[in-house]
Amino acid sequence: MKTIIVKSQEEGGKVAGDIIIDYMSSKSNAILGLATGSTPISTYRYLIKKTKEENIDWSNITTFNLDEYMGLGPDHSKSYRYFMNEELFDHVNINKSNTFVPDGHTKTQSDAEKYDDLIQSKGGIDLQVLGLGVNGHIGFNEPGTSFESITSIVDLTNETIEANSRFFKNKDEVPKKAISMGLKSIMNAKKILLMAYGKSKAEAIKNLVNTKPTTDWPCTILQNHADVTLIIDEEAASEL
Ligand code: GLP
Repeated sequence: MKTIIVKSQEEGGKVAGDIIIDYMSSKSNAILGLATGSTPISTYRYLIKKTKEENIDWSNITTFNLDEYMGLGPDHSKSYRYFMNEELFDHVNINKSNTFVPDGHTKTQSDAEKYDDLIQSKGGIDLQVLGLGVNGHIGFNEPGTSFESITSIVDLTNETIEANSRFFKNKDEVPKKAISMGLKSIMNAKKILLMAYGKSKAEAIKNLVNTKPTTDWPCTILQNHADVTLIIDEEAASEL
């Protein structure tokens, strides 16, 4: 695991963005795995800026997002599909039909699993961007999730509902379930970039790096992946 410590979220966005751009220039039809939340926003802003400055071509890029809240459709302003359109897709020349976000209206587990089939049918994820939950979740794979999990409908922990309530009017509005790529789905990516900023992520980063892989800290599974880069600020690195 490679660790890059940055001074700020803005610098982290530039470091991650340059890695993504380099990848895209070596493979114009790259398959990117994307994340939502506040963490990747600086990366997406940097990608948009560089795309405008350097005419970066997204027309052959395919993207798969990690997760979506159950019950929120693409037009809901708190849905992750809406977030992706606003924060990235509307600002680059990506073909929206090549952008995939799990469907928040998926009814059954067998339908959820079709997301993994779709990823595989496109050739698999080349470069996966990840944020990190304060409890060590990646995607919405909460503590206790099997390392063998594929895309599933999952229950959110109270801690995650609390943490994500800042994006909603109040805690009651936060969906209690989500559909998320599983830990195995994430591990199938060829290359992984995980970003984490701020003191609240320090404990999860400490466990990610130092604790033997355990489902108590889902992020520890990344120790078993051959190509992971952590981009973290000094606060997130403060317990290492
Ligand atoms: C959310 C998302 C994750 C994200 C994490 C951290 O619940 N499902 O994909 O990485 O929590 O969010 P933030 O970046 O806002 O701290």
